[in-house]
Amino acid sequence: MSSSPSNLMSSENLSSNNTAPTATTLIHRPRRLRRTATLRRMVQETTLTVDDLIYPMFVMEGEEQKMEITSMPGCYRYTLDLLLQEIAEVSRLGVGAVALFPVIPEIKKDDTGSESYNSEGLVQQAVKAIKQAVPNILVITDVALDPFTTHGHDGIVDENGVILNDATVEVLVKMAVSQAAAGADMVAPSDMMDGRVGAIRKALDAEGYIDVRILAYSAKYASAYYGPFRDALDSAPKFGDKKTYQMDAANATEAIKEVALDIAEGADIVMVKPALAYLDIICQVKKKTLLPVAAYNVSGEYAMIKAAAQMGWIDEKKVMLETLISMKRAGADLILTYFAKEVALILANS
Ligand code: PBG
Repeated sequence: MSSSPSNLMSSENLSSNNTAPTATTLIHRPRRLRRTATLRRMVQETTLTVDDLIYPMFVMEGEEQKMEITSMPGCYRYTLDLLLQEIAEVSRLGVGAVALFPVIPEIKKDDTGSESYNSEGLVQQAVKAIKQAVPNILVITDVALDPFTTHGHDGIVDENGVILNDATVEVLVKMAVSQAAAGADMVAPSDMMDGRVGAIRKALDAEGYIDVRILAYSAKYASAYYGPFRDALDSAPKFGDKKTYQMDAANATEAIKEVALDIAEGADIVMVKPALAYLDIICQVKKKTLLPVAAYNVSGEYAMIKAAAQMGWIDEKKVMLETLISMKRAGADLILTYFAKEVALILANS
C-alpha cells in the first residue's frame, strides 16, 4: 500500500493499521482524538442539555386558539387553555422553565402601562394557572412596559419624548411585585432602566418575596434582531427607537459595567441579549462574574434559521444545534430560545 500523504488523508486509511513510515515527523497530531465518534464524544468540551433551556412563550386572551407568528414559524400566541397544554408537554420533555410574554389588546394599553400591575391581568392569571397545572416548571415573567404602553416604549414618556427613568422604575416595581404575588418564580427586568434591579429586589423583600429570583437583562442591546418578537406582541415603538435605554452594539466594556451594577443591586442571574452577534460579550461577562450567565437567542436569530431552512439553503437541525452550542461554548449557562421544544425533542430521542 502506498504511503503518500494524500493516501494517508483518505478515509479508508483511517481505520487501517498503518505502520508505514510517514512523510513527516509531527509530534502533535490533534486529529488522533477525532478519529472515532466515541473518542470525539469523550473529548467534547461543551454539551447542550435540556437543563440549559428556557422556553419563551406568548400568551393571549381568549379560549381555544393558537395563532402562528408569521415571522417566527413554529411559534404561536396561545390562549391560556392551550398554553397550559403546551407547557405540560414541554415540561414532560424536561424543559425546566418558560418565560412568558403577553399579547395585550390595544384597548388595555395606556401611556403608563398600568395594566402591567393589574392583579387580574393576563400575565398574573397565566402564572397562577401554570403554577397550578404544571407546578414543576419554573415561570419567569418579563418586567418591562412595552407590551402595555400605547407608544410601545419600555418606559414612561414625557411630553418631549424622553423616556423617564425613575418614574418608570416605580411602575416596574409594582409590576414585579404583582407577578411575584401571582406566583412567579423569577422576574426578568428587560427594560434597561437604571437602578431597577435594586428597586425590585428591595420591594420583593419588603413584601416577603425573598425567594423570588431576579434574572436581569443586564447587557441588552438596541437590536434589529428583535423585529419578529415585536410582530408577535404588536409592540414596536410608535416613535423613535430604544437607543436611549438599550445598549449600543459597538460597546463591550459598557456591558461589563451594566452587569457589575446589576450584580451589586442583587441580580441572581445576568443575561446578554441578543446572543449570536454578541458571543464575545457572553464570553467576557462569563469571565467577570460568579453568577450564572444567560443568553437570549432572540426572535430574529430564530427567524433567520427558519427562513433559510424553508428556502432549502441550510440544514435546519444542524445549524440550530451548532448555533446553540456556540452560545454554551462562549460561556452561557442558560439559553432562552424559541428552539427549546425542538431541541428537547431531539435530545429526548438521541
Ligand atoms: C421587551 C422585550 C423585547 C424582547 C424581549 N423583551 C423586545 C424589545 O426590547 O424591543 C425581544 C425578544 C426577542 O426578540 O426574541 N422589553
